[in-house]
Amino acid sequence: MCIKRRYRSMFSLLSTLTYACWSIIMILKSQLLLLLPAPVLAATIKNCTARALPTPSVLGASILTIDAFESTLDSTSVSFCNVTLTYTHPGQNDLIKVWLGLPSAWNGRFSGLGGGGWVTGFPSQMVEAIAEGFAAVSTDGGHDGLSQTTESWALLSPGNVNLYALQNFASVALNDMTVLGKQLTQAYYGKPISKSHWAGCSTGGRQGLMMAQRYPGAYDGILAQAPAAHWAELIPTMFWPQWVMKQIGYFPPQCELDAITAATISACDGLDGIEDGIIGLPGLCTFDPNTVVGRPYGCGEIKGSISKEAAEIVKLTWRGATSAEGKLQWPGLAPGSPLYALAGTTCNSTGRECVGAAFSVSTEWHALFLQKDPSFDPYNYTREGWDAAFHASVQQYNSIIGTSDNDLSEFKRLGGKMITGHGMADEAIPFNSTVKYYQRVLDLDANATDFYRLFSAPGVNHCGGGLGANPDLASILGALTLWV
Ligand SMILES: *[C@@H]1O[C@H](CO)[C@@H](O)[C@H](O)[C@H]1NC(C)=O
Ligand SMILES: *[C@@H]1O[C@H](CO)[C@@H](O)[C@H](O)[C@H]1NC(C)=O
Ligand SMILES: *[C@@H]1O[C@H](CO)[C@@H](O)[C@H](O)[C@H]1NC(C)=O
Ligand SMILES: *[C@@H]1O[C@H](CO)[C@@H](O)[C@H](O)[C@H]1NC(C)=O
Ligand SMILES: *[C@@H]1O[C@H](CO)[C@@H](O)[C@H](O)[C@H]1NC(C)=O
Ligand SMILES: *[C@@H]1O[C@H](CO)[C@@H](O)[C@H](O)[C@H]1NC(C)=O
Repeated sequence: MCIKRRYRSMFSLLSTLTYACWSIIMILKSQLLLLLPAPVLAATIKNCTARALPTPSVLGASILTIDAFESTLDSTSVSFCNVTLTYTHPGQNDLIKVWLGLPSAWNGRFSGLGGGGWVTGFPSQMVEAIAEGFAAVSTDGGHDGLSQTTESWALLSPGNVNLYALQNFASVALNDMTVLGKQLTQAYYGKPISKSHWAGCSTGGRQGLMMAQRYPGAYDGILAQAPAAHWAELIPTMFWPQWVMKQIGYFPPQCELDAITAATISACDGLDGIEDGIIGLPGLCTFDPNTVVGRPYGCGEIKGSISKEAAEIVKLTWRGATSAEGKLQWPGLAPGSPLYALAGTTCNSTGRECVGAAFSVSTEWHALFLQKDPSFDPYNYTREGWDAAFHASVQQYNSIIGTSDNDLSEFKRLGGKMITGHGMADEAIPFNSTVKYYQRVLDLDANATDFYRLFSAPGVNHCGGGLGANPDLASILGALTLWV
């Protein structure tokens, strides 16, 4: 009677009973309170010391250290208990850190926070949640903290990928931090958590989808913004514009690419009925960059006229990576999105002698995870080599980090609600990448809009920025909370 199904996987049976029964007692108590005079709420907060906290547990993990100290958020007077936990998965030779912030003025809710790029989680992104009264958790995933490179952990030795480390980054450490964080939160306050939610963008968005797909009972609400979903297809093809430039034999200065973007926006801006510098309907934009070949461009000392090579590079960047047979591997950027992130180049001061400046997450994916050779240079792929690498990525990694499962039925059954927003001028993760995932979810469950909604943000770049209106995090989370 007492057991709430959703708690079953998170705690040992004993604590399941305890917490689930507690929540029933809480309900009875709140009904009683209606009959009583205004209650004096006793402070139930325990001491913020490692000694006062119980050692939490999750199957597969062995807790190594717990550290806890009273702290105040920088630039606010918000006091919170700053807990850091370290643990290992015995036999995997890993060392993972979990950060937990327990505010003195707790709102009864729990929030898991995601990372970005190769970073599993950022302590800095917990600040806002803690300030708003959430018990907030994040993790370093066992990798060297805030480093955006995988050089120190991707390979155990040339040829041998550290699959356990990748698995921690992909999924396992996210569930661990959630289970451990929830146990400590409930022990610290002596009360069950009322609701929990996930918030993240990019890698953090992918992580949110991973929670819904693989740990559907972990969060009641998930905000999965501009997600790096379909990782196994998306990440290798983020190198496509660079490979195209190498094949064409021309690395244009950014000024030249920006001139094509500006021409695209002026051609397609009005398709949505409003001239505001924003392409609201990129799917209708059929602008052909060849029509501006020869048009002069200039940025200070850098000047020239738009080349047919640059026009071709932009067209192929929008179309997306394709196989030798012309089959689409993964969608490209929406027309009008800035090109510097994926088609980046660096040049000398006159805009000549340019070289490619690739997105490092993709370059490392090719060298370390696909070729398993730190000296591999993905500009060197032959046509066949490119296709083989794409196939290897999907074939070897989809089940580990693909985050492409469109079956969200368990999340739905447990009452979860999820929101994804994606900027239509995203320069890093193509807007159509998310459209494709969302469409796959709807293909499987025509009623998926009952629990999962996609919001398109015209003119918004990756996780914010751009000319378009981007709702702030607090208001999106407010909407998610209401929906939950
Ligand atoms: C909290 O700390 C005080 C003094 O430091 C100690 O007397 C008390 O027993 C502690 N309470 C708990 C629950 O650990
Ligand atoms: C908690 O303490 C750790 C270690 O001192 C620190 O790195 C982290 O930023 C702190 N967390 C917050 C939210 O301030
Ligand atoms: C995005 O997908 C839509 C169809 O869903 C398609 O019409 C459009 O051309 C695609 N855009 C890009 C940039 O791939
Ligand atoms: C930039 O490269 C061009 C073409 O090679 C060369 O003529 C020019 O001197 C270089 N400028 C600088 C500042 O290095
Ligand atoms: C790969 O590219 C690098 C530099 O871009 C070059 O030095 C090297 O010779 C190339 N290797 C092969 C096998 O083509
Ligand atoms: C969608 O929901 C409606 C109304 O609840 C229901 O009649 C229908 O069978 C559902 N369709 C699917 C595919 O689940």
